[in-house]
Amino acid sequence: GADIKVDISKIEPGQLIRVEWRSKPVWIVRRTPEILAELAKDEDMLKDPNSEEDQQPEFARSRYRSLKEEYLVLVGICTHLGCSPQYLNDGQFEEIVEGVPDGFFCPCHGSRFDLAGRVFDGSPAPTNLVVPPYYYIDDNTILIG
Ligand code: FES
Repeated sequence: GADIKVDISKIEPGQLIRVEWRSKPVWIVRRTPEILAELAKDEDMLKDPNSEEDQQPEFARSRYRSLKEEYLVLVGICTHLGCSPQYLNDGQFEEIVEGVPDGFFCPCHGSRFDLAGRVFDGSPAPTNLVVPPYYYIDDNTILIG
């Protein structure tokens, strides 16, 4: 079984944890209400705000791209050429995209993603970051796979 169970009960608001699933990095971010509010405001800067171009679970074709709004689950691999994007939070992302305090930045060629993994216009990455298949076993446990 390559599927993994992840305990999400200890993730602090705003924190990102990394796990490995089928040799890929998977991120789980506990999004704050402030972060969720940002996702409603950045959509005119995105290539594909409704994730119409992506191969992914049906629930990810939405603003939050998650089963529960609070928890984002993403494969942590840039959709351009496979580098590992950095998590920039607490206003650090504002230096990359003005007016957006939190996001992911790929240092290889400068792709930019919001905290739903949606790619910003002008990035070399063609599509949003991938949402893996997962579900909740209970309120504190996600099964990825
Ligand atoms: Fe991320 Fe090129 S691999 S921008």
